[in-house]
Amino acid sequence: MIKRHRIQFPKDELTNINQDEAYFYLQGSGSDRKIRFHDYDEIYQIQGLYEQIFYDRLKCTSPTKVATILESAVKQSQDSFSELRVLDLGAGNGMVGEELKKHGISRLVGVDIISEAYEATIRDRPGVYDAYYVEDFTKLGPERRDELIAWQFDCMVTVAALGFGDIPTKAFVEAFNLIKNGGWVAFNIKDTFFDISDESGFSTMIRELIFAKHVDIYCIERYRHRLSIEGKPLFYFAIAGRKNSDFPV
Ligand SMILES: C[S@@+](CC[C@H](N)C(=O)[O-])C[C@H]1O[C@@H](n2cnc3c(N)ncnc32)[C@H](O)[C@@H]1O
Repeated sequence: MIKRHRIQFPKDELTNINQDEAYFYLQGSGSDRKIRFHDYDEIYQIQGLYEQIFYDRLKCTSPTKVATILESAVKQSQDSFSELRVLDLGAGNGMVGEELKKHGISRLVGVDIISEAYEATIRDRPGVYDAYYVEDFTKLGPERRDELIAWQFDCMVTVAALGFGDIPTKAFVEAFNLIKNGGWVAFNIKDTFFDISDESGFSTMIRELIFAKHVDIYCIERYRHRLSIEGKPLFYFAIAGRKNSDFPV
C-alpha cells in the first residue's frame, strides 16, 4: 500500500500567489520541506505525492476529461479510437497514459523533459507506454525525430502541461507536426488563454492553430480542471480536433 504523506498548504500569503507559484509543505520527521507545484522532479521522486496533492486534495479531473473528449471526437468519424497511435507530450508519471488505456487505447508513447517523470512511470505504472522518451522537444535532434516519425503517430495528447512555464510553444509545435494530417489532437488549456487580451505566446499559437484551420475542432468543453490551494475552482477548456496541416515552424 502506498504511504499517505503529511502535506500542508500555506495558510497566509495566499492572495498574491499565481497558479505557477503555488507551493505546499511536506511534513517530515525533521523540518517541513517547502515544495513548489512546479518542482515535478522532487514530487515524482516521492511515490504517491503527485496523486495525493493534485488528485485527492485538489480534485484534478483532466486526464479523464481529455480522454473522454478525445473519444467523443473520434467517434464522430470513421476512425477507430482504440487503434490510435498516441503521443503523450508532458506525460509525467503516466496518469494520462493509464486513463487512455482504460479507454481502450493500446499504442502509446510518452515524452517528458525530466528523467524523474520516466522513473516514476516505470515505478508506478509499468507497461502503460510502449516507449517513453526523456526529451526536450525544443531541441529535438534529427535522429530522435526520425525515430519518433517511425511510430507513425495519428494522435497527440497533452494534459495539464501547456502554459505556466511548462511546455513551450516550440515543443508543442514539434509534437503537433509529428502527427500525420487527418490525425487527432486533444489537450487542455486554462480558460483565460482564449481571451483576446492574453498575448502570451501560447494564446496566440492556439488561436492561430484553430483559426488558420491547422486543426478542425470537434469537441470543446469548459470544465473544472482542479481546485486552487484556496479551494477555488480553476476552469480550463478541454479541446479535441482533427489535424489538417502542420503548423509553420
Ligand atoms: C502538471 S504535469 C502533467 C503531467 C501529466 N500530463 C498529467 O496530467 O498528470 C506537467 C508535465 O509537463 C512536463 N513538461 C514541462 N515542460 C516540458 C517540456 N518542455 N517538454 C516535455 N514535458 C514537459 C513536466 O515535466 C511535467 O511532468
